Amino acid sequence: MTTAVTIPRTGGTGGQTAVAARARQVVKAYGSGETRVVALDHVDVDIARGRFTAIMGPSGSGKSTLMHCLAGLDSVTSGQIYLDETEITGLKDKKLTRLRRDRIGFIFQAFNLLPTLNALENITLPMDIAGRRADKEWLDRVVRTVGLAERLKHRPTELSGGQQQRV
Ligand SMILES: Nc1ncnc2c1ncn2[C@@H]1O[C@H](COP(=O)(O)OP(=O)(O)OP(=O)(O)O)[C@@H](O)[C@H]1O
Ligand SMILES: [Mg+2]
Repeated sequence: MTTAVTIPRTGGTGGQTAVAARARQVVKAYGSGETRVVALDHVDVDIARGRFTAIMGPSGSGKSTLMHCLAGLDSVTSGQIYLDETEITGLKDKKLTRLRRDRIGFIFQAFNLLPTLNALENITLPMDIAGRRADKEWLDRVVRTVGLAERLKHRPTELSGGQQQRV
């Protein structure tokens, strides 16, 4: 069983609804036949806006699967996912890509950094793809806050696990 715990944090996110993300009767099955695994079995969850939510459960219980589905990184077998008022399970590829790029930040369990890009290039990659420039002051502040200022020119293999995750 997977459990969601929410902890209040300071600072609003400026959104409209009290619930930032919702899952309704979400089923995610991998594979077929004998190797079929039902990772999510009719999951209903509300993720409150402006709070930290921790999803807890044993290894293999479906935490990463739930996160991937909530963020529109993976498709669901059935059920609905909403971000604000948008049902993302009904979106076509192009709209989903744009929504992921503009509205979702995701730290992967396996970091998924591009090995040929340095830390700074990996950080700004989504904006580069979108054809936008990062606000330099904000970028500096974020980088300093997470302690990466001295490692921006390093490639992922030259970073510690924690540094890679913060990138
Ligand atoms: N691509 C896949 N193909 C088949 N089965 C998968 C796939 N990805 C995950 N699974 C299965 O789905 C179940 C849920 O996996 P998931 O990665 O969501 O677990 P988790 O709760 O994040 O585990 P951990 O705490 O170990 O990270 C597991 O039993 C896993 O074996
Ligand atoms: Mg996981």
